[in-house]
Amino acid sequence: MKKPRILDLFCCAGGAGVGYARAGFDVVGVDIVDRPRYPFEFFQADALEVLRDVSYLRTFSAVHMSPPCQAKCALTKGTNAKLASRYVDLYPIVAPLLYAAGVPGVIENPEARADVVLCGEMFGLGVLRHRRVELVNWSAAKPKHVKHRGRVRGFRHGKWYDGPYVAAYGAGGGKASVPEMQQAMGITWTDVREELTEAIPPAYTAWVGERLSAHVVAGQLEEAA
Ligand SMILES: C[S@@+](CC[C@H](N)C(=O)[O-])C[C@H]1O[C@@H](n2cnc3c(N)ncnc32)[C@H](O)[C@@H]1O
Repeated sequence: MKKPRILDLFCCAGGAGVGYARAGFDVVGVDIVDRPRYPFEFFQADALEVLRDVSYLRTFSAVHMSPPCQAKCALTKGTNAKLASRYVDLYPIVAPLLYAAGVPGVIENPEARADVVLCGEMFGLGVLRHRRVELVNWSAAKPKHVKHRGRVRGFRHGKWYDGPYVAAYGAGGGKASVPEMQQAMGITWTDVREELTEAIPPAYTAWVGERLSAHVVAGQLEEAA
């Protein structure tokens, strides 16, 4: 059986990519910024151009993408809402391209359909980091959300809260230091703050990847029959 290959678009330093590798995929990453700490094969390119090359996409068993979420993420819904207009909203542009390619795909983004919602507590992590995951051209059973053990540590509206989770975004107000983010998300190969604040914990995509791999293998068996 061929080892499945996944294309990791908008890959940053590879939080998502490492999870797919753990689930048995060979991983190729693409980012518009050079990411020397990305631990797999990498090329620097505009993911929009890559997505338009359907024959290239079809050389992969699956495609994952985490288009930047600054336009819609929780951080920009409150006091930072005015910042949102600075960022382009990529989800409505990239999602249809992935559906049209016909390849099994995964989109992680706040606008994604919530086929799966993952939370750090499901994996015993030190972040909550709820993430919506849309499964493109395949499906999997939705996992149950689990009860949080407590609060996210830090100041909110001038009040200090203690708790078992750290805030792995922004800075100040009790937010996580770089070593705390590494520890809380299980990401050891980068110490760049921006890359950590952007990352999906690998445990999330290992969970998705195990199911995606089963889907891909089932397809290979069907083809061989
Ligand atoms: C939310 S981060 C991805 C996080 C990643 N999935 C992880 O788990 O570490 C989004 C990434 O998209 C990249 N990016 C933004 N626009 C892009 C484009 N047009 N093409 C490729 N990458 C792009 C950014 O440089 C950033 O690294």
